[in-house]
Amino acid sequence: MNTGMRKGLTRYGDEEFALFLRKAFIKAMGYTDDALERPIIGIVNTYSGFNACHRNVPDLVRAIERGVMLAGGLPVDFPVISLHESFAYPTSMFFRNLMAMDTEEMIRAKPLDAVVLIGGCDKTVPALLMGAASAGVPAILEVTGPMMAGSFREERIGACTDCRRLWGKFRAGEISESDIEGAGSRLVPGAGSCGVMGTASTMALMGEAIGMMLPDGGAIPAVHADRLRHAEQTGTRAVSLASEGTTPAQIMTPEAFHNAFVVLQAIGGSTNGLIHATAMAGRLGIEFDADAFDRLGQEVPVLVDLKPSGQFYMEDLHRAGGLVEILKQLKPFLKLDAPTVSGRTLGEEIEASAASWQQDVVYTRDEPFSPLGAMAVLTGNLAPDGAVIKQSAASAKLMQHTGRAVVFDGIDDLMSRIDSPDLQVTADDVLVLRNSGPIGAPGMPESGYIPIPKKLAAEGVTDMVRISDARMSGTAFGTIVLHISPESAVGGPLALVKTGDRISLDVAGRTISLDVTDAELAARRESWQPPAAHEGADRGYMKLFLETVTQADRGCDFDFLEKVEQHATTPLY
Ligand code: FES
Repeated sequence: MNTGMRKGLTRYGDEEFALFLRKAFIKAMGYTDDALERPIIGIVNTYSGFNACHRNVPDLVRAIERGVMLAGGLPVDFPVISLHESFAYPTSMFFRNLMAMDTEEMIRAKPLDAVVLIGGCDKTVPALLMGAASAGVPAILEVTGPMMAGSFREERIGACTDCRRLWGKFRAGEISESDIEGAGSRLVPGAGSCGVMGTASTMALMGEAIGMMLPDGGAIPAVHADRLRHAEQTGTRAVSLASEGTTPAQIMTPEAFHNAFVVLQAIGGSTNGLIHATAMAGRLGIEFDADAFDRLGQEVPVLVDLKPSGQFYMEDLHRAGGLVEILKQLKPFLKLDAPTVSGRTLGEEIEASAASWQQDVVYTRDEPFSPLGAMAVLTGNLAPDGAVIKQSAASAKLMQHTGRAVVFDGIDDLMSRIDSPDLQVTADDVLVLRNSGPIGAPGMPESGYIPIPKKLAAEGVTDMVRISDARMSGTAFGTIVLHISPESAVGGPLALVKTGDRISLDVAGRTISLDVTDAELAARRESWQPPAAHEGADRGYMKLFLETVTQADRGCDFDFLEKVEQHATTPLY
């Protein structure tokens, strides 16, 4: 098989000419013939001036290049789409699959013997791993790392759990406009991804647990020198992966996904981790088993005291020893024989790790932070294909609750009425948001964190049962049911709910149900009309997205990008 510069030659109909031309152009970059004979290690450069979570990517590229050259390879970086949560209208999730396609096609188009993927902000790690899984070229993950916590008037704060908490206080009139502006200047104190157990931290730790990143990579802060050392080692290891020919499919096995799902439950991780890992698995013909994941959640406790479920930040997890401290406690639940990009199994990496020290961030299996896992999977007549609740960030008193539905028909309707003094709502009601799923929004935005109506917030109400077909930021908290499938825009039962209906949530019983007879629901379905077409739905990426995106229970990938033959399920529980 061709390697290095001879790989994937442009199809001119004359391979020697194609090689001659390729070398002629690449020599304009100043390379010697010696350099061009080396294994070529691509570095996916996701720097963007809009993406503060990737501010340190240029430093990482240099460190990775150093590592590649120390091992005798030739590093070459190239760009793909970079996604930041706050700079992606209508929502970054709308572009995750586009970034995955960009990654897959660029890896395939270039003469790469191996590739280093630099992720960080929420959608980037899953997009890179989805693309690399489909491309089938040896790949290894590096992340930008979490940002440090900031402070505001002696209070330790960080993006973005505290963004939401402080905004909630501002809405309730507890803090002034100048206070919220002041806090806004301190919440994101520097480079790196959000420093709580949001989606970025969740995906970084899952990326390490699944074996695609060298040990310790998940928690090292972005600005720490350890991050650069880790990047250098990643570059060095990429050269070995190139010669060994280890592909992502050989690392991301059903056992490896199982380990990632165990970690997701144990870290109080983001519900987005569920969707992303489902999509990643789908690229490799591995089907997500929601029942097995739910069973895991009944056995695997939450071990980590990090926001939004707890009090600490990712820099504290790094000081406590990082992911391996969690893995040591999780050993009975893990598939220890799963391979990793280091060349050792996950179990061997745990054995090779440093001895533990006294710390207060990672709890023990016998005395966990919370006895149940982070998430529970719900079904019922409102969610025939499932829904999820992050029980570790929910209010205990609302875990079993029946209330009157107050329905919002979409994000615009929510924004126009939620703070109206005329809104008929009490703290016992259930707030319902629909038309916010993959097709309805479009892109399934993080609007599931429905704000508490202003007049209730002013009375001191901090949580209510809220349900939707949307997602929620991993940094958010509350008794919030998400990912209801099928979504309302395709005629899921959520579309049929009316204000005044009774809705029951029973987390222990794993149900979310609408107290309306089947006959009445059938009558409502007769008169249901799908929402109006989105602007731009007839062309371009929007058309591709709307016609091919799958529902949340399949990971919201495009149907034509999933591996056609599903040969296994995960997690294995
Ligand atoms: Fe990038 Fe939170 S906005 S990780």
